[in-house]
Amino acid sequence: MNERKLQTLGQQLGRRSWAEPYKIKVVEPIHMVDRGERERALAEAGYNTFLLRSEAVFIDLLTDSGTNAMSDRQWAGMMMGDESYAGSRNFYNLEEAMRIYYGFKHLVPTHQGRGAEHLLSQTCIHPGQSVPGNMYFTTTRLHQELAGGTFVDVIIDEAHDPYNLHPFKGNVDLQKLETLVKRVGSEQVAYVSLGATVNMAGGQPVSMGNLQALRELCDHYGIRIFLDATRAIENSFFIQEREEGFAGRSVASILKEFCGYTDGAWMSAKKDHFANIGGWLAVNDDALFDDLRNLVVVFEGLHTYGGMAGRDMEALAIGIVEAVQDDSVRSRVGQVGYLGDLLLNWDIPIVRPVGGHAIFLDARAFYPHIPQDQFPAQTLAAELYLDSGVRAMERGLVSAGRDPKTGEHRYPKLELTRLAIPRRVYTQSHMDVVAEAVKASYDNRKAVRGLRMTYEPKALRFFQARFERTA
Ligand SMILES: Cc1ncc(COP(=O)(O)O)c(C=O)c1O
Repeated sequence: MNERKLQTLGQQLGRRSWAEPYKIKVVEPIHMVDRGERERALAEAGYNTFLLRSEAVFIDLLTDSGTNAMSDRQWAGMMMGDESYAGSRNFYNLEEAMRIYYGFKHLVPTHQGRGAEHLLSQTCIHPGQSVPGNMYFTTTRLHQELAGGTFVDVIIDEAHDPYNLHPFKGNVDLQKLETLVKRVGSEQVAYVSLGATVNMAGGQPVSMGNLQALRELCDHYGIRIFLDATRAIENSFFIQEREEGFAGRSVASILKEFCGYTDGAWMSAKKDHFANIGGWLAVNDDALFDDLRNLVVVFEGLHTYGGMAGRDMEALAIGIVEAVQDDSVRSRVGQVGYLGDLLLNWDIPIVRPVGGHAIFLDARAFYPHIPQDQFPAQTLAAELYLDSGVRAMERGLVSAGRDPKTGEHRYPKLELTRLAIPRRVYTQSHMDVVAEAVKASYDNRKAVRGLRMTYEPKALRFFQARFERTA
C-alpha cells in the first residue's frame, strides 16, 4: 500500500520546526456565525469592517493594536497597580523600562499613540511648516495638519511598489528630503517624522545605515528627528535579520542604538508592548520636555499617568521587557511570515517582502475591473468577511482621505487590504484557515463588484464611513 506520510511544517521546509516561546493559560472561545448572519451583519455595518460587532467575527485581524495577549506576569503586574493620582510607582517603573530599552531621558505618558502625536505636533510644528516623513500614517498626519503643518512624503520610491523586494522599503530618500529642505528652508521644516516599521507601506523596516545617514543630513541642517516607535522592536528584528553587521547583535541592543540617532520617539504601546491600552512620548531635550509636561495635563492627565491607570503602566513596563527578547519577536514576525509564505506559494498578490505585523493584500491585483474610486481594498475586506468571518481592514483610498486644501480624494499608489496579526493570540491553524479564506476570495475575484460611499465622516473617514454595493 502506498501510504502518504504526513510531515510537520519544519520537515516540509527541510529544517527543524520551531514553536512559540510561551504556552497558553487562558482561552477565549470564538465561533463562526453562518453566511446569512454575516450578510446581515455586513450590510448593517455599511460594508465597513470597523462597524461590525466583534461577536460576528471569527478570526479578527482588523488590527494588532490593543488586541495582543498579555502574559501572566503582565496580569500579575496589573494587580500591583498604584492608582495614586500623582507619583504612581508604576509610572517610575515604566520610565525606567523606557530608559533602559529605548534610551531617552524624559518620559511623558499618554492614553495611546494619537495622544502623543497630538502633544508632539502642537509643541513642535508652527503653522505653515512642512513635516517630511517616510510615508504618512492616518492619525499622525492628521495631527500634523491640525497643528498647521503639511506632511511631505520622502520615503524611497520602492515603498510605493508592492512587489519591489528592497529589504528596507521604509528608508528615507535623502535626496527627496534635501530637495525639500532647500526649497522651503530648514527653519520651515518642523522635524522629520520617521516611522519604523512603516505601517502603510506594509510594515516595512528602516535600516540602521539609512537612519545614520539621515542623522548626518539633519545635523547639517539643524533639523530634529522624531521616531514613531510603535513597531520599532519589529524594525530592530529586521535589522538583525537583514542588515550586514547586525546578525550577532540582540534586538534590544539594536533598538537602543536605533533610538540613539533620534531626538525622541512616540509610541502606540498597544502594539509592540503587548498591552491593551497605552502610549508615551519620550525626548532628550529638557526645554521640550517641559513644554510637553505642561501640555499633557491639559489633554491627557497628570504627567505621571497621562490618561493611563497605574495598572496599565505596569503592564507596559513589563511588556517592554518581554517584547525585546529575541525569541519573542522572532516568533511574532515568523508567524506573519508563515501566513505570507502560504499566500505567496499560491501566487496570491501581496506586498513583498512580508512586513512585521501584517499581510497586505494588493486589492488592485485582486480586482483590476474595479476602479479605485469604487474602493477595491474596502471591497476586499468586505468580501473576505463574507466568505469566512475573517475581519481585515482597508488601507487604500478610504484611509488616505481627502486633501485638506483641494477637498479631493488623495489617490494612494497602494490600494491594500490589511490582515494584521495580534501578538500571541492566534495559532498556526488559525493562520491556515485565514490563508484558505484569502484563497477562496481570490478564486472568486472576478464575480465581485465595487462599493459606493454613502456616508463620509470629516476626519479619519475609514473608521466610520458607510458603503453600499454598486449596481
Ligand atoms: C504606526 C502607527 N503610529 C501611530 C498609531 C496611533 O496609535 P493609537 O492607535 O494608539 O492612537 C498607530 C495605530 O495604529 C500606528 O500603527
